[in-house]
Parts: sequence; C-alpha cells; structure tokens
Amino acid sequence: MTVVAIQDQVEAAVAAALTRVLPAEQAGTAPVVRRSDRADFQADGALAASRAAGRPPRDLAADVAGALSGAVTAEVSGPGFLNLTVPDAVVWSAVADRLADDRLGVAAPRTGERVVVDYSAPNVAKEMHVGHLRSSVIGDALVRVLGHLGADVVRQNHVGDWGTQFGMLIQYLDEHPAADWRGQGAATMSALDALYQQARAAFDADPVFADRCRARVVALQAGDPETVAAWRDLVAESERAFEALYARLGILLDAGDMDGESRYNDALPGVVDELLAAGVATQSDGAVVTFTAGVTGPDDDPVPLIVRKKDGGYGYAATDLATIRLRVGEYRGDRILYVVDARQALHFRMVFDAARRAGWLPDTVHAEHVSFGTVLGRDGRPFKTRSGGTVRLADLLDDAEAAVRAVLAEREGADTFPQEELDAVVRAAAVAAVKYADLSTTRTKDYVFDVEQMVATSGDTGVYLQYAHARVRSVLRRVGWAEGDGTPLDPSLPAHPAEKELALTLDAFDATLHAVDRTLEPHRLCGYLSDLATAFTRFYDACPVARSEGAVRANRVALCALTARTLGTGLDLLGIAAPDRM
Ligand code: ARG
Repeated sequence: MTVVAIQDQVEAAVAAALTRVLPAEQAGTAPVVRRSDRADFQADGALAASRAAGRPPRDLAADVAGALSGAVTAEVSGPGFLNLTVPDAVVWSAVADRLADDRLGVAAPRTGERVVVDYSAPNVAKEMHVGHLRSSVIGDALVRVLGHLGADVVRQNHVGDWGTQFGMLIQYLDEHPAADWRGQGAATMSALDALYQQARAAFDADPVFADRCRARVVALQAGDPETVAAWRDLVAESERAFEALYARLGILLDAGDMDGESRYNDALPGVVDELLAAGVATQSDGAVVTFTAGVTGPDDDPVPLIVRKKDGGYGYAATDLATIRLRVGEYRGDRILYVVDARQALHFRMVFDAARRAGWLPDTVHAEHVSFGTVLGRDGRPFKTRSGGTVRLADLLDDAEAAVRAVLAEREGADTFPQEELDAVVRAAAVAAVKYADLSTTRTKDYVFDVEQMVATSGDTGVYLQYAHARVRSVLRRVGWAEGDGTPLDPSLPAHPAEKELALTLDAFDATLHAVDRTLEPHRLCGYLSDLATAFTRFYDACPVARSEGAVRANRVALCALTARTLGTGLDLLGIAAPDRM
C-alpha cells in the first residue's frame, strides 16, 4: 500500500483551488508547498500566478483560500503566501496508514528500472585509502536507497586488478619468497602493500631486475600459466581482505560484484578499433585519442582523452569505455552510476561523450559520474598518516572503536550491559560514526576526518541517531509494546503541536528518499533523520507516553512505533545498524 503523503495532498488541493479561480493558462505550474513555522505548510503559488493573471497577489491568494475544498484550510499571509493547516484527523490517519504498511507507505517508483552502480574499486596489493572509503560508503547508501525504491541494482566493484605493476610484484615475490602474507585479513593488504613498495624500490635501483620484471609483464599478458597463477593468488588474497573489510563496514559488496579491470582486457583492442572505425577516435603522435567538443586546455588546445598510449598500452579511458559496453549491452542498465572522486570529472565527461558518439551509450541510458570531495586531515590537507603514508581503513575503524568505547563507558547504566552486547554496540557505533560523518556532508565537498567529533553522542552524528533510535525503543519497551503488536489509534483526538510536528516529519520520509534518488545525495537522508530525532525529542519532552492513559497513550505509542521504524529503516538505508539498546 502506498500512502499519499500529506504534503502531496496539500499540494494537490492548492493546485485544484488555483485552477478553480484562474483559467488553466494563467494558473501556471503547480504551486510549491513547503513545511512552515507559521502553519503546517506554506504555499507561494498565488505569487507566481498573480503576474500572469494581472491581479494583486493577496487578492488572488484570498480567492484560492476560499476555493480550497476538502479538509485543508488556508490563511493569506505576507505578500500573498498561503498558510495551510491540515486537520488533526488527517495527520493521525497518515500515521495509522504508514504503520499498517511494511514499507511505511513508501512507494517504489523505480520498479522495473535497472541501475548499475560502480563503487569502491580498491586496488589489488594496495592498501585501501580514505578515497575508497568514500566511494564505498556513498555507493552503498545509493545502492540501498535505489533498491528500496524498487530499482533492480547491479553492484559493480571495478577492482584495480590489472597492470604492469603486477609483473614487478610477481617477479619480486618469486625472487624473495616472503613470510606468509596470505589470509591475514587487513594485515594481508598491509603486507602486500609493503612488498609492493619494496618491489618498486628494487625496480628503480636495479636495471637488471627491472628487465626481469618487464619479461614478467610479457609473460602475464601472454598467459604463462605460472605467472597467471601467481597473479590469481594476489587477486584472490586481496579480494578476501576487501571482503573482510566490507563485512566489518557493513558494505553490501561481495565476491559476485567484482568485475575488475582484468575482465575488460580482451575487449580493449575492439574498443580502440571501433572508435577508430566510427571516426570517434583519431591517431595522434602514435597514440589513439578522442576529443570532446568544448573541452580545451589553458591555451585553448583541445584536451585529448588517451584511449591507447604510444607504447600500445591501454589506460583507464579504454577500460572505462569497455565498462559502458558491458553495462549497457549485457547488464542492460537504464542508469549507470560511477561513484568516483571529483578529480575524475573530466575523465568521465569525455568517456561518456565518446561512448555516446560511438553508439555504445544510447540516449535512453543515463550515465552519471557521482563525484565526491576529498577527506582532509585536521590540518586541512588530504588525510595522510604522520609520515605521509596511506591511512589504513582498519586503523581508522580501530580508532573510532576506541573513541566510542570511551564515550559509551561514561553513559549512565553502561555497567548493566553484558560485555558481549557492549562489544557489538561499540562496533556498530564506530561504523555509524565513520559512515555518517562521510554521508552527512554534501557529497561534492571535502570534509575533515575528526574521530572525536564523529563519535559524539549529541549533535549531528551517526552515534546520536543510533542513540535516538534506541531511546524510542526503550520508551516502547517501557509501555510494554513490542514489534508485531498492533497500534490502534484514534484519529478523532486533538493533536498536541509536538505530536503534529512529529507526525508531519514522519510523513516526509518518502519525499526524502525520492530526493536522494533524484540528486544522488545521501546527506538529504542524514538531515531528515536528524530532524526526525529532534522532532521526537520535542514530542517526548512535551507529551508523556508511559504516564498518559487510554486513547491519548495509544496514539503516542503509535507515534513512537512509527518513529522507531522510520529511524531504523532510514539508518539501514544509509548502511548503518540501529541497535535496540545502547
Ligand atoms: N581503482 C581506481 C583507484 O583506486 C578507481 C577506479 C574507479 N572506477 C572506475 N570505473 N574508473 O583509483
């Protein structure tokens, strides 16, 4: 069952009233209705239409107010706004309807649509860095929200598992059989990363070793069984380590989602040939390049996208063009998203343009670079370790766990928690802290990674939202209500302003999810959940639940139940767990 949101009902009522007052060509587009401090909602439609109608906005607004049918009432305010009030019964009924539905009344408008989401994309034998954290966390939230809205989501982990660097690493490991780096979870990545650095140093220092490495690259590309087996081993071990981290972080990606760069190897010569044949690419100085209209450098020269290098090697452009062919042709994506950092904006603009011109990306398919900003350290520079190295994600989570543990230990009643439950809560809260800090900032902006601030139990943090959810659950436990119990409510009761405010906030859940879908901005859901937690706090301060009685109590219990579910579902869509007790 889908529930028509109250805001949509109000918007429709105002639009209908406007067409009753004005001929269609003067009524214009439907007036925008917003939540307001002065009334339940405010509409500014009369202001816009008054120009077309040649009438003073206040007069027109008064006519619209008079023409409203149904339950919504209006008063004219300011230069011609309508302050709109919804009857309490409508608000209570919406609460009842959403509670009666598993999906809380949220529609699934993306049903039948396939969305391919490329995210995370760490590199084999290299430590994941905070850029991969952002891609993973943002991509996963989008996967969850779009999936919840009905889309058939294909997750794609474009792992960096191919390239000449593997010849070097394989040769080095062959000559320096290393201590066991396999099967160590996060430590595997650190060990491989370190070995990779050593191999690089040897390559730079020793020209004879470098020659042996080059021969290894040739062997790998030619499919030499021993070399390929060594490469597979590196890939498999790295993937195990990635999966361990995804499990710890609550990221949905698994082995079935890995379509790494190597998968596209065989397609790359074809990509180049077809681009050349279609006239989309040209030879330039021995390389194969494409140009995009309007993309020029500082001296107005067109900027090339290099598809094949002078030495015959393929770059990211060729591989990303190949991903489009797979994702359109085989995966049948209607919408293809690349969750990659903002520095790749030009790359994707040119890749999409070339793919469109080559006919691989039809107009019916929407491709988008979902870009994000950089994670900064407290010094305002890109986040690095003190020695300038990559910050290990596992270390970040360890730090967050230590900080959360300290904060939770100070909480009242912390000693009543069994150790095991406390450990689980600490793990969940640390992940919530890290993910929410990332998701709650505008996607395209940089943000500062500050563990102390992330784990605070108050303010705009993931831990605060988890705590808010657990608090509602605790109220429900106190009144003896459990998930699965009925929530009979009486729509004829007058609503306290704080009850109404909470109910109207709950009613905006689906509009919020649709906004995330439209903009691909998870911070909108974060902001919504934070507003919801605030509305609940105001309600709970003003309206006792356990100490109320009869129908009043039943209505309040229903509000609490819907708040708990909405917070729980919303957090889940951000990829954040919502424990019942904290
Ligand atoms: N593996 C790359 C890196 O670590 C990111 C790849 C992004 N995804 C893509 N389809 N190009 O920088």
